[in-house]
Amino acid sequence: MIIGILISGRGSNMVALVDAVKSGEIPDSQVAVVISDKPDAAGLQKARERGIETLVIERSARPRIEHDAEIAAELKRRGVELVCLAGYMRLLSPDFVRAFPNRIVNIHPSLLPAFPGLNVQQQAIDAGVKISGCTVHYVNEHLDAGPIILQRAVEVKDDDTAETLSARILEQEHFLYVEAVKVIIQRRKDER
Ligand code: GRF
Repeated sequence: MIIGILISGRGSNMVALVDAVKSGEIPDSQVAVVISDKPDAAGLQKARERGIETLVIERSARPRIEHDAEIAAELKRRGVELVCLAGYMRLLSPDFVRAFPNRIVNIHPSLLPAFPGLNVQQQAIDAGVKISGCTVHYVNEHLDAGPIILQRAVEVKDDDTAETLSARILEQEHFLYVEAVKVIIQRRKDER
């Protein structure tokens, strides 16, 4: 399966996916390209160090639909069959979602449908929940919605700050994203 990864920042989930593909833990796959909408995304260097082609496609002053169309064209040109959002900080247009039906997945640092959106670890602490976690889900045109593929729970400790909780959830994200892509690959084999 040919994978394309979209990032906007640090790229630690992207690294987890790339390394799992390279080691063969995610079987029968390759990462064709990592695309960032931010030229200064730290993940770009990490992708290059791993020999993965990178592209920067900035939104600039154009409509979202044009930005998304350029990204979709670059992904299609490389034959991408699965688009993994890994800290990509933009909502995708319905046109983009339709261009890759059931072929876009995202990772989110809460147990959806609880706490969609931003600053979700702080939201979890403020709500006083004792368990949070992370979710990998298919992407539709709504924010942090779409069918859930896998989730993993993380305890919220009484003395947690957004930083300490984020760090513990992030460890589990790296594990969960790899597992979810393995599930998708297996589902696709079963369909054939
Ligand atoms: C992760 O917490 C992910 O769940 C969220 O954004 C963060 C990205 O981190 N969507 P990284 O860029 O993968 O390190």
